[in-house]
Amino acid sequence: MAEFSERAKAIQPTGVRKMFDMAGKDSIQLGLGEPDFQPPDTAIEAFYQAMKDGHNKYTTTAGLVELRAEIASLWAHLEPSLTEDDVCITMSGTNALLTLSLCFLNQGDNILLPDPCFPLYGPHATITGGEPRFYPCTFENEFVPTIGSLEELVDENTKAIIYNFPSNPTGATITIEQRDELLDFARRHDLWLITDEVYDRIIYDHPHVSFLGGGYDKVVMIQSFSKTFAMTGWRIGYILSANNEIMTQAKKMQYYVTACSTDAMQYGVLAALQKSAYYPTEMRDAFWQRRDLICQRLNAMPGVSCHVPEGAFYVFPKFDFPGWSSVDVALEILKEGVVCSPGSAFGKSGEGHLRFAYTIGMEKIGAAMDIVESVLARIKDSPPPEQAAEF
Ligand SMILES: Cc1ncc(COP(=O)(O)O)c(C=O)c1O
Repeated sequence: MAEFSERAKAIQPTGVRKMFDMAGKDSIQLGLGEPDFQPPDTAIEAFYQAMKDGHNKYTTTAGLVELRAEIASLWAHLEPSLTEDDVCITMSGTNALLTLSLCFLNQGDNILLPDPCFPLYGPHATITGGEPRFYPCTFENEFVPTIGSLEELVDENTKAIIYNFPSNPTGATITIEQRDELLDFARRHDLWLITDEVYDRIIYDHPHVSFLGGGYDKVVMIQSFSKTFAMTGWRIGYILSANNEIMTQAKKMQYYVTACSTDAMQYGVLAALQKSAYYPTEMRDAFWQRRDLICQRLNAMPGVSCHVPEGAFYVFPKFDFPGWSSVDVALEILKEGVVCSPGSAFGKSGEGHLRFAYTIGMEKIGAAMDIVESVLARIKDSPPPEQAAEF
């Protein structure tokens, strides 16, 4: 009988998408993780010009040499040996993550993933035959895992661990000391360390702390231009590692996933890196103001508390309304015209939280917070819905 695969049946649409689909067209959107900016003109013009110049063909799987060399030079202060050979352009960070899962996981292997996390990590492990094992990143520990919690999960079948700082959904970052401890954990257990640093350019109070340059030779980074240059719809990112073995495997695998990335677009991204290097910082400055506003508003609401995130453009407040689930709270807020994401959409440890993506202007954030404040004041002392929402 014609049936669907177990892997297809094992995965569900994410809660972030469900909220998006339920939102009215005039809702204020704090649900989706995409910058409300456009890519720099230099990038758009170079993309267009490259198409006119005939760059509409397949490229090598790893991608345009000049772009890869430019990327290698971005990280050379941490890994001076990097060259264009250590970079493989992918069709997004999502694509990079899937390719790495395909490279690392066999049936029976497991991979350690943050909880809460970017909702694609778990399903990627599942569809590539591995077992996702989630390590808690709790509010109490500023959303950074403890080494004890990692030690409890790791066993002889653990192949890899994903770290994501700055984090989606929490905005958490790490210190150099924390980085070293997390790196030592991976080294002690001989794990591939996949570091997702797609928010490295959206960082506020301290410089970005990368896992590159930490002295461990099994580090592989996934990156994306989605957030760096507001190119979410372009779909372009990369895999980078100073480890030749993983780069050889990743390029081989990437060929069978997408063959190569988009030809002309790579010229657009190259132009952005070379001529609009200031652009990510300008966007970051706008996010910074919004972060301060939204955190100040949320922390003033009774029953709500949030850490002030040090990176990305998300805030992940905790609420304390007995009996209310994050889905129920998010749906009440949605009824009044503001879209946010229930914390449980990012994993079990996300329950009791909401995620707001501050990817709209200051005025709209103010208007959204007025609505959130009045909804939360109403439900705070009300009984939760008798039937928890199906989600
Ligand atoms: C932590 C994290 N990693 C990776 C991605 C993937 O980005 P993209 O597929 O747009 O390159 C996202 C997107 O939201 C993300 O939040």
